[in-house]
Amino acid sequence: MSKENLIKGLNEDLAAELGTVIRYNYQAALMVGPASQGLRNWFRDEVADELGHAAYLTDVIVDLGGEPTTTPKEFAKPKGLKEMLELDLEMELGDVQHYMAHAELAEKLGYAELKMKLEEMAADEEGHARDLRRIVSGL
Ligand SMILES: [Fe+2]
Ligand SMILES: [Fe+2]
Repeated sequence: MSKENLIKGLNEDLAAELGTVIRYNYQAALMVGPASQGLRNWFRDEVADELGHAAYLTDVIVDLGGEPTTTPKEFAKPKGLKEMLELDLEMELGDVQHYMAHAELAEKLGYAELKMKLEEMAADEEGHARDLRRIVSGL
């Protein structure tokens, strides 16, 4: 357990957030038709949320003496709406797991604020996953 491991983990989280910003922006643009506006708004709002997570992680990585990544994580590009939303749900749940693991690491290293913020971000992602589950179950 070292600070370097924590920085590496936070950089993976940052790459995931940057990828999510791009993925949600991209997916919102593919949503067309009369029923799409609500869903587009949800995705546009998420972009702001995920960008806030990315900004926090970037600041923390610099504060810890690391070099924040500027490269987003790659993502699949299914064209069907259901497949898109299922991918998003899966990735949000993955983010929850990563944040919880890194919160534990932050706690072990004595970073109380970081631990709590990472748990808060895990809770945000779980909320996003809940929204997505409800949308997917109605398709
Ligand atoms: Fe996020
Ligand atoms: Fe999210």
